[in-house]
Amino acid sequence: MTQHQSSTLSVPEVRAVPRHVAIIMDGNGRWASKRLMPRVAGHSEGLSAVRKIVEECRRIGVEYLTVFAFSSENWRRPPEEVSFLMKLFLKSLKGEVSRLADNDISLRLIGDLSRFDLAIQEMVKFSEEKTANCKKLTFTIAANYGGRWDILQAMRRCLIANPNLKADDVTEELLQPHLSMSYAPEPDLFIRTGGEQRVSNFLLWQLAYTELYFTDILWPDFDVSELHKAFDWFRNRERRFGRTSAQIAAEPMSDAV
Ligand code: IPE
Ligand code: IPE
Ligand code: MG
Repeated sequence: MTQHQSSTLSVPEVRAVPRHVAIIMDGNGRWASKRLMPRVAGHSEGLSAVRKIVEECRRIGVEYLTVFAFSSENWRRPPEEVSFLMKLFLKSLKGEVSRLADNDISLRLIGDLSRFDLAIQEMVKFSEEKTANCKKLTFTIAANYGGRWDILQAMRRCLIANPNLKADDVTEELLQPHLSMSYAPEPDLFIRTGGEQRVSNFLLWQLAYTELYFTDILWPDFDVSELHKAFDWFRNRERRFGRTSAQIAAEPMSDAV
C-alpha cells in the first residue's frame, strides 16, 4: 500500500482544488426544529444534501470526500434518535450503493463498526466490495468514529504488527499505516456547518495542517453554491506548513489550476 505524505514529515503539494475534503455535517436537528418538525426529519433532509455534495465533489475533481455521520459520542442521544439514525444509515446504504458504483465512486467506512447491527455490518462489507475498484472519488463515511479511538486502535495494531517495538522506535511512519484513513492523503479542507467552531473528536491526527472552514449554514441547506464558497475561501489560504510567507513567494509557481 502506498504511504501518503505526512504534513509534519514533509511539505505536501498544494493544489487549488482540495484533494481531500472532510465535512462535519452539523445542524440537522436545528434545521428541523426551526420548521417545527421532529429532529429526525432534519436527518432525512440531510441525506439529500449529502448526495448533491458527493456529486459536485466528483464533478470538480476532489479525490477524497469524508463525512462525519455518527460520532462515538452520538450514542449519548435519545435512543429513538439513535435508532432512527441506524435505520436511515442502513436504508441509505441499500439505496445508494448502485448509484455510487455507476458513478465510479468507491465507498469506505471508518469507525468502530462492531457496535452496529449485523445487518449494517454486512451491508457495509457488501457496499465496500461492490465499489472497491471505483476510481473517480473515494467517499468515506465516518460512523461510530472518534479521533481518539482512531489513534488508540492504530497504536494497538502497530504494537501487534511490531511486537518487539521499543518506545524510542515508535515513529509516524510506523503508526500511519494503521490509522483508519491510511488510504487517503490528509484532508486539505475541513468544513463544519451548523455554526459551531469545534472538531468534536473528528479526524484529530489527520487535521494537523488542514484548513478549517466554519459556516452557520445548517447541513440540510448546504448546497453546491455553499460548497463553492468554501472552495473559494480555501483557494485564498496561504498554506505555510510552518514556513514563512517569503519562503513561499520564492517557490517556483505550481502548475495547479
Ligand atoms: C448532525 O446534526 C447529524 C448528526 C450528529 C447525526 P445534529 O443532529 O447534530 O443537528 P443539531 O446540531 O442538533 O442541530
Ligand atoms: C458532530 O456533531 C458529529 C456529527 C456531525 C456526526 P455533534 O452535533 O454530535 O457535535 P457536538 O456535540 O455539537 O460537538
Ligand atoms: Mg449537532
